[in-house]
Amino acid sequence: MSVRRDYAGYRLRMGTRYSSRLRLEPIGPQRADDLWLLHQDDGIAYWYGGRWTHQAAAETAAMMERGWRVDGVHKWIAYRRTTGELVGRGGLSYGDVAGVRRLELGWAVRGPFRGQGYATEIGRAGLRFAFHELNAEDVVAFTERHHHRSRAVMERLGMRPIGELRRPGLVDGRDGVHDDAPFVLYRAARTSHRVRGTSP
Ligand SMILES: CC(C)(COP(=O)(O)OP(=O)(O)OC[C@H]1O[C@@H](n2cnc3c(N)ncnc32)[C@H](O)[C@@H]1OP(=O)(O)O)[C@@H](O)C(=O)NCCC(=O)NCCS
Repeated sequence: MSVRRDYAGYRLRMGTRYSSRLRLEPIGPQRADDLWLLHQDDGIAYWYGGRWTHQAAAETAAMMERGWRVDGVHKWIAYRRTTGELVGRGGLSYGDVAGVRRLELGWAVRGPFRGQGYATEIGRAGLRFAFHELNAEDVVAFTERHHHRSRAVMERLGMRPIGELRRPGLVDGRDGVHDDAPFVLYRAARTSHRVRGTSP
């Protein structure tokens, strides 16, 4: 593939996407303030190590932009198409999962927007991107074993549990972050997945 076509592909991947109700923007430094706002939400702060500072949000946004530039993929921030309201974040990124570099899917939705299928919509957009554009063989997602709402998103997306991981996180019935918290690992394989509904 020529450099020119590569660049065109990169611009396309970096561009705005739309799912049925959401506008999905690649996260970079220009989204740092919205990323900060998202991480002031109590429910998000609970699972992501507390409320982020502006500095943490700026550093994470810069790291995510590097992911887009280097890997051609990282997380999106999501806005309601009709009102422009900030709904959440999510999508794909490469990460170390039990010592293996894998394409990982995630989501976080602000309190007022939970219970309406937005996380599932973000997840579906991520699977479509992975299988239709990146030609990925599979995608994984993981969460603390007792995080039933996040596991429910994985199951709505048709992902299947394939094992457990131990990593820093929350443990049911205990306070604080523990180094060896139990996480459940889910997987979606391209061969067994049909994904509908997101346009680049
Ligand atoms: C995990 C999290 C994203 C799940 O959010 P959620 O709102 O439960 O998930 P969805 O957006 O897929 O919505 C599903 C709910 O909307 C309902 N729904 C309504 N319209 C829907 C639609 N079009 N499609 C799918 N579900 C729909 C479903 O029936 C379900 O209802 P229920 O909660 O009564 O079972 C949310 O709890 C969150 O942001 N938590 C904090 C951050 C976090 O923990 N992230 C994950 C870290 S691993």
